[in-house]
Amino acid sequence: MIIKTIKLNNFRCHEEYFLECEKSTAMISGENGSGKTSILEAIYEILQGRSFRAVDREIVRRGAEFYRVEMGYEDGERVIGVYEVEKDKKTFLVGDKKTARLPKKYKYPVVLFEPSDLNLVSASPGRRREYFDRFLGQMSEKYSNSLAKYNKALKQRNELLKGEGVDFAMAFSWNVMLARLGVEIEKARREMIERVNRKLTEKYRSIAENKDEIWLEVSGDLAGGELEEGRYLRELEARFERDRILGHTSFGIHRDDYRFLFNGKEADGSASRGEVRSMIVALKFIEAQELYMKLGKKPVVLLDDVFSELDEARQRALVKNFKENQVFITSVGAVKM
Ligand SMILES: Nc1ncnc2c1ncn2[C@@H]1O[C@H](COP(=O)(O)OP(=O)(O)OP(=O)(O)O)[C@@H](O)[C@H]1O
Ligand SMILES: [Mg+2]
Repeated sequence: MIIKTIKLNNFRCHEEYFLECEKSTAMISGENGSGKTSILEAIYEILQGRSFRAVDREIVRRGAEFYRVEMGYEDGERVIGVYEVEKDKKTFLVGDKKTARLPKKYKYPVVLFEPSDLNLVSASPGRRREYFDRFLGQMSEKYSNSLAKYNKALKQRNELLKGEGVDFAMAFSWNVMLARLGVEIEKARREMIERVNRKLTEKYRSIAENKDEIWLEVSGDLAGGELEEGRYLRELEARFERDRILGHTSFGIHRDDYRFLFNGKEADGSASRGEVRSMIVALKFIEAQELYMKLGKKPVVLLDDVFSELDEARQRALVKNFKENQVFITSVGAVKM
């Protein structure tokens, strides 16, 4: 699949915008605030069915009643996404079909590379969870559904904990649900990290040309222990009194974190800025490979302001590793390739 045209109406600052892709790599350059990220956001929207940074209401150009994105593919297929403010309703038009959600068949994997990803190693645990959840969610619809269910159950358990006259028995059904989904989610996270680790050091070395060892780990309440629903449930039950005082759930996969290890030490603090960047670039390549292997579709790569941030060796690595993907690159100044 190759994107040929992108047409926007009332999408963020773009009242009207049209882009024709002549080659597999498209350059979008412009001043700060000219709407570059918004174009990537629109592409993401049509490939994944939703934005990576906001809800539809915020995307509609201020004062407008709707937004519309139309993407034309090389094979003549067209996918249109329309959001109407008054009805608070989004519709996808594919061929002559209208649907509220993007049909699975038209979902397309995306590797998004944002400037903030370069700080992933030292970012907050929440940001790292979000990062890997986005990746896992693309790998498996089951994962995103289970995570959504988990978060809903967690919210309900927390609300219950804050209520008056709560007793142990009332939390039981939420505990059972959190334990079941929590184990399933943690399993998927561990398996994903294991697959990434198989390639991470090698990929890193191909970019950085040195002998460092890179390793990723899931850390958190479940680290090291056996993954078992019964154990998870007992942990939740044992903490009931404490959780009631705290007003939230103090055990579970919502407190997971990911650690980057550099030659066996915490990378945050021991690896240099350049080394950290090579680690992240390596991670992106692996994501693209994993998505392709799992879904059989070559991901579209969106590089938002990062290309010009990288040195020549890492830029070359990006071009080489993504040469079979369709790539969109934004930058403030012109980019030499
Ligand atoms: N709903 C909206 N309606 C109108 N304008 C909006 C809306 N949402 C955002 N904007 C504006 O659109 C402009 C473009 O935003 P965008 O993030 O796409 O710019 P950018 O070119 O990526 O900028 P930068 O180089 O700083 O990253 C910004 O000025 C932003 O304030
Ligand atoms: Mg931007």
